[in-house]
Amino acid sequence: MSNSRRLAGRPERQAEPVLPLAPVLNFDTLTVRPRQRRAIGFDGLDSKMLFLVSGRYGLLRILRDLDLQAGDEVLVPAYHCPALLAPMQALGVKPVLYDVDWNLDPDIQSVHERITDRTRAVVNVHFFGFWRNVAAVREVAKQAMLPIIHDCAHVPITSVERAACAWQDDYFFGSYMKFAPTFDGGFAYKASGWRSSRASRPQGLKAEIRALMTLVERSARFDRVSFLSRPARLALSTQKRIRSALKSSNTKGAPSAVYGGYELDLALEDVRPTRMGRWILKRVNWQESAEKRRRNYLTIGAGLRAVRTVRALYPTLAENEIPYVFPALVSGGDSSYQRLKLLGVPMYRWEDMAPSACRVSAQYASDLFQVPCHQDLTTNDIDFIVQTFKETLGVANLAVSQ
Ligand SMILES: Cc1ncc(COP(=O)(O)O)c(C=O)c1O
Repeated sequence: MSNSRRLAGRPERQAEPVLPLAPVLNFDTLTVRPRQRRAIGFDGLDSKMLFLVSGRYGLLRILRDLDLQAGDEVLVPAYHCPALLAPMQALGVKPVLYDVDWNLDPDIQSVHERITDRTRAVVNVHFFGFWRNVAAVREVAKQAMLPIIHDCAHVPITSVERAACAWQDDYFFGSYMKFAPTFDGGFAYKASGWRSSRASRPQGLKAEIRALMTLVERSARFDRVSFLSRPARLALSTQKRIRSALKSSNTKGAPSAVYGGYELDLALEDVRPTRMGRWILKRVNWQESAEKRRRNYLTIGAGLRAVRTVRALYPTLAENEIPYVFPALVSGGDSSYQRLKLLGVPMYRWEDMAPSACRVSAQYASDLFQVPCHQDLTTNDIDFIVQTFKETLGVANLAVSQ
């Protein structure tokens, strides 16, 4: 479907995403019968895994486990999701930003230079699902006898399981809600096992209903499950009052990650993710989802190659890489970002990072667009993304230099 045709039919939706930013209920990648007995892998690793409402609570639990005090320092990449700093701020821990290079690999010299006698841990982020050069930063942490914390918010939990078992590093945390339509959900892994699994407060019935309603509403909005979406759309459009009542209670008390926020609420620290999400996790076809993500990623990459001002940060995919998003580098990012968003392309960009002297982070704050490539995007959706980039930013054969 051409961009202009699609947009012409939906003029009222121009400022709204016309396709889902994150996975939605869709029985192409979910099955009605459970595919796996347990919510996720990690068989036999129960004492090592804590399930929490989102990834940032995983980091919070890790910082607590390290018994960090106000004024202690934790090394974090200068290019970061602002939500990563929220647990540190909550505990008065000082994030110390180390530089990254143009590939987003840690600048090892900079990591060395930032280590002081107050440093307590090093955070290594696996950006966008890519297992890039981790050996060097693991080595630095090891030499300095500092625990390493792997931020796997962009990695499917099934892949984290394999890395955690292979590396035996100290801590991993992640956010399974980014890979499956579960409403909420994160985890924290500790190689030597948690002293207690305190994430034990279940969410109540109201929260479970909110999760279900939100998932159905999202699916209906984007027409992903026809047998669910028709009645849901009817109900949601004809019963406006019920809908607005649901909406007003929707965000209250829900993890801010669900709505794209960066805040952390200490009241959610010990709260379990919704049962609804665990039910869905048992039904995820991880293999199919991974293949779809990889296919979408490569199609977006091939399409955007023709766009004058765009360059792929990682043009190829290694065999074991399952992308979270397609990281597109767009020169003159600011105006392009606004224009594309107004046309309905859903994207993220970390423009609110803590300031640093890292040149790469300053440039990527404006120029690195996180374009969705998840499993619940259709061929038409991918075509829409590529066409909108082409029509908005122009097509040429010029390569963009760094
Ligand atoms: C790299 C990274 N780390 C941590 C987080 C925090 O995870 P969550 O939003 O699940 O709390 C995010 C959120 O998007 C992220 O992108």
